[in-house]
Amino acid sequence: MGISFDAVDGSVWLNFDIQPAANPTSATDRTAKLANPGFGRVFTDHMAIVRYDQAKGWHGARIEARANFPLDPATAVLHYAQEIFEGLKAYKRDDGGVNLFRPDANARRFRNSADRMAMAQLPEPVFIEAVEQLVRADRDWIPGGEGSLYLRPFMIANEVFLGVKPSAEYIFAVIASPVGSYFKGGPAPVSIWVSENYTRAAIGGTGSVKCGGNYAASLRAQAEAIERGCDQVVFLDALERRYIEELGGMNVFFVFDDGSLSTPPLGTILPGITRDSIIALAKASGAQVREEPYTIEQWRADAASGRLKEAFACGTAAVISPIGQVRSASGDFSINGGAAGPVAMGLRKQLVDIQYGRAPDPHNWIRNVA
Ligand code: PLP
Ligand code: COI
Repeated sequence: MGISFDAVDGSVWLNFDIQPAANPTSATDRTAKLANPGFGRVFTDHMAIVRYDQAKGWHGARIEARANFPLDPATAVLHYAQEIFEGLKAYKRDDGGVNLFRPDANARRFRNSADRMAMAQLPEPVFIEAVEQLVRADRDWIPGGEGSLYLRPFMIANEVFLGVKPSAEYIFAVIASPVGSYFKGGPAPVSIWVSENYTRAAIGGTGSVKCGGNYAASLRAQAEAIERGCDQVVFLDALERRYIEELGGMNVFFVFDDGSLSTPPLGTILPGITRDSIIALAKASGAQVREEPYTIEQWRADAASGRLKEAFACGTAAVISPIGQVRSASGDFSINGGAAGPVAMGLRKQLVDIQYGRAPDPHNWIRNVA
């Protein structure tokens, strides 16, 4: 089950050593855990691990029992947060097969994140192989129905050194978590809080990569959103504090009365794979999609005038979640009377049907895990 990669010298073969867990969860316990998994609290029996050091390059690829990492207290990631991650899902098809959705796009974004964070770049085929091998090892953990297996590839700086410099050693790992809906209310409309005190990303910063530090820096604003009774925070740009950027863990779309859609342009936001897929689906169905700046003042005015019909958040974890209420220190407004709209729900169905293999896949997004 080896795959070749040319990052080292073009001739190296990477083989995952498969070491099944000695004491896997019993079928009865697994069924109980799968009944109502929520998001990110239940984990499977295995993990994938690949190590990097400067002498050996990428090596030691294994699927093994999920276990703690022993970390020296001086390990670089614990001090300077050199860490990146990804999120993608495996879906169980009605015929019992398993689909991954655009894992190549996650592998590419992971390399970009590594580059920005001065980390070793994992070859994309190794990323995909690690994900596939873990899904094979833990395929009994994929929930049926509308659940899925959330896969979390990540990489940490593992050098034991307190100097501030890129680590010379890394651990890449993938863990898996059976999940239901990210929001407690499922696809019911969510409420969002506009953060006027905190920003998420500046030009030249790390907003467009998936590093843990971005999320650490967003938590105070997200906590403020929860205090205000909202599900998620939405950030404005750091320069003018007017342009909508994205939510704490999701991109955002606006739907107008002429049937067109708009979404904030790339730059300081995460280039979401769901965002990219929605742009493709909407364009294929004939809608105009603009990637353009949109201010909070305009959003409020368009919601009041009726020019704005819908707004929705999107991401791997959230899928597509309509936004019903927007709250901020300078006043609240609702969208579409606080109800889910047909464009968001239609796109959600199109996307989910492709992911679960219930609809054709004209964009070649699905990778079948044999
Ligand atoms: N924006 C942020 C900050 C995120 O954390 C995520 C989730 O991964 C997204 C957007 C959506 O990205 P994707 O659609 O690739 O999951
Ligand atoms: C994802 O959607 O994969 C994310 O990483 C978002 C996170 C808030 C769970």
